Amino acid sequence: MDRWYAVDDHLVDLFGLDDDVLRAAVADSVAAGMPQIQVSATLGRFLNLQARALGARRILEIGTLAGYSSIWLARALPADGRLVTLELELRHAEVARGNLARAGLAAVAEVRVGPAAASLAALVAEKVQPFDMVFIDADKDGYPDYLEWSLRLSRPGTVIVADNVVRGGAIIDADSADSRVQGIRRFNEILARDPRVDATILQTVGTKGYDGIAVALVLG
Ligand code: SAH
Ligand code: DHB
Ligand code: MG
Repeated sequence: MDRWYAVDDHLVDLFGLDDDVLRAAVADSVAAGMPQIQVSATLGRFLNLQARALGARRILEIGTLAGYSSIWLARALPADGRLVTLELELRHAEVARGNLARAGLAAVAEVRVGPAAASLAALVAEKVQPFDMVFIDADKDGYPDYLEWSLRLSRPGTVIVADNVVRGGAIIDADSADSRVQGIRRFNEILARDPRVDATILQTVGTKGYDGIAVALVLG
């Protein structure tokens, strides 16, 4: 594990994956006593590159926390792009709004407060334009439901990325009593089998320990 952390530090340094705005976002999150579970800088950069490679103009994020991943995603957008990010906790959303404003992203990023399932239903009801990219990173029990809503808010070619889909390897325990593990297991099964997507999962190690990300392409 020491080596995982040292290599992540090395990569952050090598690729220049930190800056004043990101550091201030983390500092405000620490000051607010929020859990330090934001994506690693290397995953933040991956999300940013993925969005730019797609030419994404509309991005949906489920699970905002203090807006660290939101900053990486919103920075990939053109000036008239849109990030909609969904957060249950008003306290988290307020810190995130401050962090996004400091990052100069207040005009492109909208934080919606409430249970993600309700916010997702509202987006469908509003008949919003499909999103080009979706990042799922909220409560793990909700992942299967969030995937279903995300598909309704997608178009062929939309890329869906999901965090924490390996969970230290716990996902191979079919009998796990942890509802979060069961949520992720169900999510991964749908990604693997559903004809609406082609997908894979990459295992990751680093500052967040041993975990993984799913990447899915929505088919036509
Ligand atoms: N994407 C963030 C980290 C998100 S942590 C980053 O990398 O910077 C998960 C977030 O999901 C927490 O802020 C938590 O409050 C939120 N969350 C938990 N349950 C939720 C729900 N039902 N609906 C919306 N957000 C939820
Ligand atoms: C937790 C949630 C996350 O999204 C994450 O990346 C790491 C940990 C958690 O709820 O513990
Ligand atoms: Mg996560």
